[in-house]
Amino acid sequence: MKVTAPQPLVPLRHAANDRRGRPLRDLRISVTDRCNFRCPYCMPAEAFGPGHRFLGGEELLSFDEIEAIARAAVALGVEKIRLTGGEPLLRPGIEELVERIAGIPGVRDLALTTNGSRLAPRAAALARAGLRRVTVSLDALDDETFARMSGVGARVAPVLEGIAAARAAGLGPVKVNMVVRRGVNDHAIEAMARHFHGTGDVLRFIEYMDVGSCNRWNRDEVVSGEAIVRKVHAVLPLEPLDPAAPGEVARRYRYRDGGGEIGVITSVTRPFCGGCVRARLAADGTLYTCLFATDGHDLRRPLREGAGAEALLERLRTIWSGRDDRYSELRELLPVVSGKVEMSRVGG
Ligand code: GTP
Ligand code: 5AD
Ligand code: SF4
Ligand code: SF4
Repeated sequence: MKVTAPQPLVPLRHAANDRRGRPLRDLRISVTDRCNFRCPYCMPAEAFGPGHRFLGGEELLSFDEIEAIARAAVALGVEKIRLTGGEPLLRPGIEELVERIAGIPGVRDLALTTNGSRLAPRAAALARAGLRRVTVSLDALDDETFARMSGVGARVAPVLEGIAAARAAGLGPVKVNMVVRRGVNDHAIEAMARHFHGTGDVLRFIEYMDVGSCNRWNRDEVVSGEAIVRKVHAVLPLEPLDPAAPGEVARRYRYRDGGGEIGVITSVTRPFCGGCVRARLAADGTLYTCLFATDGHDLRRPLREGAGAEALLERLRTIWSGRDDRYSELRELLPVVSGKVEMSRVGG
């Protein structure tokens, strides 16, 4: 009998590794830089006030342009695509974009990161359009703490409804992201763990990061992943789990009583640049090869000057081949870097 090796869905003619040998596997697409929240760690109200100029009109990539870039990225090796913002559900017609991206051969996983505040009425349509999973940001369970974390006095109930609707629509298990800031919401760690224990949803604690340049990040506000795990373990005993996939950002733990798992994302205390296979596309078509980048690569201009699929792919390959980023590994060694791209432009 003749045995043939399994063929990849799309021939990776142009696959390329970066200068540290890392392939491109994961593309995060920001579809808007707007958000209805003003989380002080991401879009502080003083920096994103009524006078702030958001992207609009012709500055934004069209769905055709986003699809063209996604197709080129998939031909280069991308298997996972995540839609982000700002708040991606504020971009009109996002279901259509989901449908287009879900239809690209080679896309094995399509997810969306949202603040959940407007998710409940949209979850079923997003699932029908081909979305596989959602990640919902939620930093506390009591309205008082959540109001401070969201910066706009947002309430918790609509977010919990959004999570439930996503689960009901088949978009689960839902990942729930909690950014932890010492003295602001670290008292809520145990309550969050108890709430999501046994639900099938996966709570992930994120160390507060020095993303962007306007959140006035202070190392003293970082609660280490290790301290977070210790706190949870004290009320709900945990044991470590092996990574589910190479290059995964979260370190995983499971509850000893079978109540599911949690993750900690330790970009500050235990960086994971060695396995970083992610590129980030801002809503204006700038491609960033690191969450902490100061400069990106303009893809909108070549697209609008008529670059075809092959030319776009070559451009991406060149960008990725030249990549050398590992900011989190160098954080303690570098002087403070100014002019880093804001989280609301690259979506985390
Ligand atoms: P899946 O594995 O697809 O579920 O996604 P993920 O684990 O990458 O999770 P998600 O995209 O929700 O990322 C969670 C958070 O981790 C992000 O919002 C960021 O705050 C942080 N994060 C993700 N990727 C990186 C990265 O490359 N570098 C750093 N420093 N932080 C990251
Ligand atoms: N540090 C850590 N996480 C952050 N996020 C936004 N800004 C920061 C920051 N400075 C998180 C959001 C969301 C995800 C996209 O990134 O809470 O869950
Ligand atoms: Fe909006 Fe998410 Fe940034 Fe908060 S963290 S301001 S919800 S984009
Ligand atoms: Fe990747 Fe940059 Fe994060 Fe390191 S700091 S994991 S290179 S995005």
